[in-house]
Amino acid sequence: MAGKLLDYGKIREDFPILSTKMNGKPLVFLDSAASSQKPRRVIEAFEDYYRCRNANIHRGAYRLSYEATDLYDRTRARLAKFLGASDPETVIFTRNTTESLNLVAYSWAMNELKPGDEILVSELEHHSNLVPWMMAAKKTGAVLRHIPLTEDARYDLNRLDEVLSDRTKIVAVAHMSNAVGTIHDIKSIGKRAHEKGAIFVVDGAQGACHNAVNVEDLDCDFYAISAHKMLGPTGVGALYGRRSILETMEPFLGGGDMILTVSKDSFKPAPLPMKFEAGTPNIAGVVAFAVALEYLSQVGLDNIHAHEMALIEYGLSELGKVPGIRLFGTNDLDHRGGVISFLLEGVHPHDIGSILDEEGVAVRAGHHCCEPFMKKEGISGTVRASFYLYNGPDDVDALVRSLQKVRDIFKMPVKNL
Ligand code: ALA
Repeated sequence: MAGKLLDYGKIREDFPILSTKMNGKPLVFLDSAASSQKPRRVIEAFEDYYRCRNANIHRGAYRLSYEATDLYDRTRARLAKFLGASDPETVIFTRNTTESLNLVAYSWAMNELKPGDEILVSELEHHSNLVPWMMAAKKTGAVLRHIPLTEDARYDLNRLDEVLSDRTKIVAVAHMSNAVGTIHDIKSIGKRAHEKGAIFVVDGAQGACHNAVNVEDLDCDFYAISAHKMLGPTGVGALYGRRSILETMEPFLGGGDMILTVSKDSFKPAPLPMKFEAGTPNIAGVVAFAVALEYLSQVGLDNIHAHEMALIEYGLSELGKVPGIRLFGTNDLDHRGGVISFLLEGVHPHDIGSILDEEGVAVRAGHHCCEPFMKKEGISGTVRASFYLYNGPDDVDALVRSLQKVRDIFKMPVKNL
């Protein structure tokens, strides 16, 4: 096996939802790329915050508020450590990866780009790492260029020079593709982006949850994440940014907490990180996120990655035996994370998703917010099974069994699976 399985049976016991049923069948959850499940201790931390600790931060002259502020700030420090950022003030809380990337698009790109400047993305990007750049391009007269892709859905680094030039001002790439699971060699892309003087932005929505990340070693200018894909609550995300760039940027949103002083007609922004955190944030979510980070660190990101590699190897092998299946993504397991995207010949992905749902198997079906890639492949979408630390080979077996039902319903030629 390419990796070593964790004790997923024991881990599963920590996730209350995984012992529930869906449509009368035991839940087989294969949609963590959309949102991961939450361990009991994260759910309890969220509840505990509202029961015993709730107060606004940075505002109250009373103990509850000081304590809430402390919990919030300590999460920032923990997250900075988790991401390998030595300065916690360079980690900004947002609502999600999408908001983090929009922050860069609005506060940096829309102020810095000029007509004719270029933003380098790819057709494999998730919409959140594409649409904000389209908006910035529209506003500034900059244009989007696309990194060529290989047949097996990797960035084609041999052809990077075709699109990377002195006109390139932003290179925005995904750490891992949510649609087909490619883990990209982003460090070398970042190096080449910097050689051209471009900023290097990483959509880490599927990265930091599955792989150990060190933003300083990666030498990225921005790295965006979502807590809800990392065992944490929805409505919390973060943006790591290089201090020297963050300091030159305009605030993204205006309001309380992001100011130093306000007069009748003007304001002075607060220093980092508050400059980018206007209004009351999702305090309960941030506090519970600290517990999710602790859980991930205890299991160990390298162990999680090895577990997913073992599952992917097994999953690709078992799914590959299903007659009529088309698997997407690379077979090179060194460049692949815990996602398997596939189609069954002649069956719409939504029909597959619905039949799997009846069997208790939760997958995502559709374009996965990656429409350009689907268009490039000439398909409307795929079925996507995505794995995390609580999945096991038994989940792959359940998926394969359920696909047999799809084949029966659609009267596909009978063959042993
Ligand atoms: N970005 C999420 C996904 O890939 C929602 O499903």
